[in-house]
Amino acid sequence: PDVIAVVPAAGIGSRMQSDRPKQYMTLGQRTLLEYSIASLFTHPAVSKVVVALHPDDDQFHRLPLASDPRIITVTGGGSRADSVYAGLQAAGDTEWVLVHDAARPCLHPDDLQRLLTLTADSEVGGILASPVSDTMKRALYEGNAIEHTVDREALWHALTPQLFPLALLKQCLLQAMNDGATITDEASALEYCGYHPRLIPGRSDNIKVTRPEDLALADFFLTRRQT
Ligand code: CTP
Ligand code: MG
Repeated sequence: PDVIAVVPAAGIGSRMQSDRPKQYMTLGQRTLLEYSIASLFTHPAVSKVVVALHPDDDQFHRLPLASDPRIITVTGGGSRADSVYAGLQAAGDTEWVLVHDAARPCLHPDDLQRLLTLTADSEVGGILASPVSDTMKRALYEGNAIEHTVDREALWHALTPQLFPLALLKQCLLQAMNDGATITDEASALEYCGYHPRLIPGRSDNIKVTRPEDLALADFFLTRRQT
């Protein structure tokens, strides 16, 4: 079945300390946003991408993909969840929706394929995630010393894309936002409402470009793949 994707791209990238929002930083000839959107269209089921833009965005319309008929834009909001919700409102009539960060340019086609295949028979949806490999410490309340080591066997890094039934995601996001719950990804809205989305193992090179040093890493992962 058809899948619509929502790409929240309305952030300002404050941690990146760049002269422009990080989704418009370039690797070679293309912006991070273009890599991220192109990675979604590698799957034939993805028929449309809704991009949520900052109200003051003056860069999207300059990109070649601005004239791609499969791409529509909406105005995002003050939080990531607001931006995603705005995108969902424009997603139209589809059973499944993928949500993918504009700042994750290294999504591998195999991972997207695996997420769709292994989540298709779920009623709740699922997310790409990678197992934690570092030893994890919980800090004391004061934050300056270790309380104990957390069992990392149970810990995963949440990645994107995240795949959910559109109606369920809308309902959970709305409830979580109305209640003022902390939601940093789509899965957390479902968790808030008592659901348990699947964890689909994904590649650890699907990084979110967050800080300046991440750009060189993304460049390395993408370049290595093309050669
Ligand atoms: N995002 C969004 N709307 C917001 C905030 C974030 O659409 N109000 C998007 C970002 O553009 C990004 C994704 O959500 O693609 C992940 O957010 P993050 O990495 O935190 O990006 P920024 O919020 O832009 O960066 P920072 O937190 O460093 O300011
Ligand atoms: Mg942010």
